[in-house]
Amino acid sequence: MSLFRLDASIRTEGSVSRAIADIDEESWRQDNPDEVVTRRDIGLDPVPATSWPLSVFADRSNLDSLSPEQKDAVDLATTLSDELFAAHALLFAVPLYNFGVSQHFKAWVDLAMTDPRLGESLKGRPAVLVAVRGGAYGAGTPREGWDHASGWMRRILEDVWGLDLRVVETEFTLVGVNPALDQFKEVAAEMREESERVAVQHGRHLAGALTH
Ligand SMILES: Cc1cc2nc3c(=O)[nH]c(=O)nc-3n(C[C@H](O)[C@H](O)[C@H](O)COP(=O)(O)O)c2cc1C
Repeated sequence: MSLFRLDASIRTEGSVSRAIADIDEESWRQDNPDEVVTRRDIGLDPVPATSWPLSVFADRSNLDSLSPEQKDAVDLATTLSDELFAAHALLFAVPLYNFGVSQHFKAWVDLAMTDPRLGESLKGRPAVLVAVRGGAYGAGTPREGWDHASGWMRRILEDVWGLDLRVVETEFTLVGVNPALDQFKEVAAEMREESERVAVQHGRHLAGALTH
């Protein structure tokens, strides 16, 4: 079972989403020692925001009509969706930025979706979303309802693309970084430990080893 892995963190040093996704990947690797991992790092190498409008209106039934810029955008969209089609399992690691979806993840999704082949073709594939947030947004917290990323990401991955999705959530990653959050050190450590445990389990899901 080959794996596609996408990273959206804009940093490498200290990145929690990358560290949790590494655990998922290692767990998947146990059953797939010789399989290929296709990596797309949109945090460090984003898809150009200009590609989406060029690709979305390109007439794919008449490739000769496309400008060179449109052709490049269509080619990139095709590459992105080919990477998804080629993998048996999909791993996405995406942080919360400014209470919303990472712009790089949104640009990548938008462009991939301009490929008309995407439709139903990913339905049922095992997938994991590693969602990390600096703060905490659970029920009863002062910022309940401020996480505007997770709901949208689940909609796309689970409902639109039909992936068999599991989500690993890690909150309070800014504890230890932002002194105002020092009082939450213990709870943050517990959350991290729990998400590392869940990541191992979800890696097994990626490997097709879990049935529910
Ligand atoms: C520019 C920027 C904006 C951020 N905005 C938020 C935010 O609105 N809410 C939040 O909970 N965390 C926010 N964070 C914190 C990140 O979600 C957190 O640091 C997360 O761990 C980043 O992922 P990484 O560790 O994989 O790099 C922000 C971080 C950066 C760099």
